[in-house]
Amino acid sequence: MTDRTPLVAGNWKMHGSRAANAELLAGILAGQPFKCDVAVCVPSPYLGDVAQALAGSGVAWGAQDCSAHEHGAYTGEVSAGMLAEFGCRYVIVGHSERRAYHAEGDQAVADKAKIALARGITPIVCVGETLAERESGQTEAVVKRQLSAVIHTLGPCVGEIVVAYEPVWAIGTGKTATPEQAQEVHALLRVQLRAATQRADAMRVLYGGSVKPDNAATLFAQPDIDGGLIGGASLKASDFVAICRAAG
Ligand code: PGA
Repeated sequence: MTDRTPLVAGNWKMHGSRAANAELLAGILAGQPFKCDVAVCVPSPYLGDVAQALAGSGVAWGAQDCSAHEHGAYTGEVSAGMLAEFGCRYVIVGHSERRAYHAEGDQAVADKAKIALARGITPIVCVGETLAERESGQTEAVVKRQLSAVIHTLGPCVGEIVVAYEPVWAIGTGKTATPEQAQEVHALLRVQLRAATQRADAMRVLYGGSVKPDNAATLFAQPDIDGGLIGGASLKASDFVAICRAAG
């Protein structure tokens, strides 16, 4: 890590209840102050509750997806404009679960990033290869293709986004990329960003995939890893707080 302020963002996925969320947030707030930026990305119905619980704190909140459209006949979707009305700070776009289960392609992900930025929300754009892609030597080509769609669509504004490298084979599996494997990909992404924006060295590139309190510090110590996108471990306040401390 350089002088970039790390970001640790929790991705709650489709977990939680009003009672469980209140307890989790109280535990996270009790861990303050943090030296890194901290956010939680929560299921849409809880955005209002979470915004209220975190108001005035140092912990930001975000959503897990947004529509690629401004508004219209898109049943079930939530627009970036709606999220912005609540003061949403971040939105995850292109998570591998969205790409895999909702057939989101690179261009749709780029469109979502663009619309979020236009509404003043920082997109956390996820890229990452599957196990088959890694084993067939395609990691570099896949992540570059995924990022280049976003670069193409945003132009130099790509400097405003957060990137998350999440190898699909490491998500929720307990198999973390080694710090060296992760750093190798992060460095490639940084080079690609440098060609697109002068802000590349100020941008945060997060690692995600089975980050836990016991492996966070070595991952975050890598020169191009600027924090993490945390799934399972973000649901337990003590684990999430420990990971935030490892980044600060
Ligand atoms: P995990 O999920 O930490 O549970 O592996 C990370 C993610 O999917 O963002």
